[in-house]
Amino acid sequence: MAYDTHTGTDGPEPVTDWANDWDWLDDQWGERAPEIWADLRAQGCTVAFTERYGRAFMPLTHEAVSAIAHDPERFSSFRVSVSLPDSPVRKAPPITTDPPEHAAQRRLLLAAFSPRQIEAKEKPTREYCRSLIAALDGQDIADAAVDYSQHIPVHVIAEMIGVPESDADLFRDWVFRNFQLAPRDNDVKRALQVEMFEYFNALLDARAADPRDDLATVIVNADIEGEPVPRDLQCGYLMLLILAGVDTTWSSIGSGLWHFATHPEDRDRLVGLPHDDPRWVMAMEEVLRFYSPVTMARQVVADTEVSGCPVRHGEQVLLTFPAANRDPAVFERADEFVIDRRVNRHAAFGLGVHRCLGSNLARMELLVALQEWIDAFPGYTLDSRAPVTWANGQVRGPRSVPVKLR
Ligand code: HEM
Repeated sequence: MAYDTHTGTDGPEPVTDWANDWDWLDDQWGERAPEIWADLRAQGCTVAFTERYGRAFMPLTHEAVSAIAHDPERFSSFRVSVSLPDSPVRKAPPITTDPPEHAAQRRLLLAAFSPRQIEAKEKPTREYCRSLIAALDGQDIADAAVDYSQHIPVHVIAEMIGVPESDADLFRDWVFRNFQLAPRDNDVKRALQVEMFEYFNALLDARAADPRDDLATVIVNADIEGEPVPRDLQCGYLMLLILAGVDTTWSSIGSGLWHFATHPEDRDRLVGLPHDDPRWVMAMEEVLRFYSPVTMARQVVADTEVSGCPVRHGEQVLLTFPAANRDPAVFERADEFVIDRRVNRHAAFGLGVHRCLGSNLARMELLVALQEWIDAFPGYTLDSRAPVTWANGQVRGPRSVPVKLR
């Protein structure tokens, strides 16, 4: 056993053989996952293996990741995180549902995330970013993750769902426990599920009695094909929205800010550009490709193969979208950040029927957050006196980015 800095207890041994014993909760995953994938490719490994969570596979090619994502009959979404085989599963529609039921569950949320709805949120999001920047007035140093990126997605999704932003620390704690502790600790997962259910159950009761203009009200009054939605599923929707809405975009904004702090030549190409200049969008899409935060998973429900490697019923596979985005068979200069990449059909938002429902929202938040920060601090750089820290696991991204603001 080795000391685990997250739990303060003895934890699993650090990984030394990523091809045969990978672990997405190993700290090296947070710090250097793309290098690990590049090393594996260089060794000729296309599917890595582990027994740390039962038998689980990690494909590295875009072709394999895409094939799995498009084959729900063999690869089910009822478990979307590689975790201990007997870990408690809970429905969080639509992400944990396979076709054909999936489409109707997804439809319930579509209107709220349409381009028109999201466009209306751009101005208030920009104002919110400016208020965070104004709070740094007079400072020479800051933490771009702690003082800025972590707040923006919580602010936006809390308002959409209808939960108080004053609970932001609670939501970030849920995110940490769910993504970084629960995959290897069933007790953490069970306790978290109960806690989140109780929180959202109370919220739904409140909205049933007193409707408002928010997603909690939409969900408590919704039906799916004429049938009322059971309370358990209603809570599942809200759990998914808070978990998917916070950590993902926080990670992307943080990665972008880390990149431009450490690559001033890229940052300088954005300084002073009007906000509608297409170079902003190209840069944002490259942040999404190069630093893709989200790795999903599927449970094998029929014996089959992944890149020629046999996988059996009950085993698990990672949907390594971030590794697919670095596959040299699909992307030219795949391991280079190309700020003006013209063709960029990346898989950061997934592939297949579960493709991210919040992608319009995430893109808007990321673009606005980068624009406002670079406008305010055109000469910011990394402050190398303090450490940069990265979250490992399902949602990878920087949690601390110390910077000199000028
Ligand atoms: C940069 C930010 C984001 C990234 C990289 C991202 C990535 C992803 C990925 C890879 C999937 C596919 C899941 C799978 O195949 O199992 C997904 C699904 C989903 N995302 Fe996002 N996401 C982001 C932001 C958001 C936001 C802000 C929301 C809003 C709440 C959101 C809501 C969802 C939902 C509801 C699904 C499930 C869709 C379905 O199952 O049909 N995401 N996301």
